[in-house]
Amino acid sequence: MPRPESIENRWDILYREYPEVYEAFMNVPYQPSVFDQVPEIIDLREKIIADVGAGTGRSSSALARTARQVIGIEYEPAMLRQARKKAIGDEGSRVTYLSGDALAIPLADNSVDIVTGFTLALFPPEQYRKFICEGLRVAREQVVYVGIPPGWYGGNLDHVIENPYKGTFDVEVDRIFLEEYQFACQDVFSNQEYGTIENIVSIYGFIFGKKAIEHIKRENKTAVRWKYRVYWRK
Ligand SMILES: C[S@@+](CC[C@H](N)C(=O)[O-])C[C@H]1O[C@@H](n2cnc3c(N)ncnc32)[C@H](O)[C@@H]1O
Repeated sequence: MPRPESIENRWDILYREYPEVYEAFMNVPYQPSVFDQVPEIIDLREKIIADVGAGTGRSSSALARTARQVIGIEYEPAMLRQARKKAIGDEGSRVTYLSGDALAIPLADNSVDIVTGFTLALFPPEQYRKFICEGLRVAREQVVYVGIPPGWYGGNLDHVIENPYKGTFDVEVDRIFLEEYQFACQDVFSNQEYGTIENIVSIYGFIFGKKAIEHIKRENKTAVRWKYRVYWRK
């Protein structure tokens, strides 16, 4: 079947049927990378980390640049296959992948130093409560979550796309971390440069929808700016 113009924010379809587009989205250079900024906030040196929602392995292998050992946990087989293919070299030797659910992390109590979740995107937002409780059960030291704060779902193009989660999902997730579970937080920024209109349309536009594609073409935009919120609780 030919590829549609866009999957209109259906991340479940993206993970299941187009892991290569997700991979391309993650591989467009982000500067400065969120993975270079997180170790300035959270000490990852010598840590054993369970990285939940490991996806195609981007966050797990980035964490392995600093940590002692990373266990990437992912429940979508197509993503896990891509992640395992990439686990090579020095960083790769410090990463192992497990099939498992963020809501029932397949690890014993207090078995790792840190549990991380990088843009895990659980839905509906109530699921974050379960993830946090599971993280606090498994981690000896802290739980760290890196998400996109309210108003930044589509980066700085959020206002032009039809954000199906606007004012609901992102606000609720932020409230759960900060108010209900009293996490600390710090925001970091990153610029993503696609280089060409063709590239940004076929990757960002494919994910975020027709409205985004129209805007990109009209404004001749090849870059997106992102804001991330790093939440942590010891
Ligand atoms: C946006 S991706 C992030 C991947 C990776 N952490 C990164 O930074 O590139 C979110 C990933 O979380 C996974 N995921 C979502 N819900 C999950 C759950 N309940 N248990 C395990 N993985 C889950 C998805 O399949 C997807 O691969």
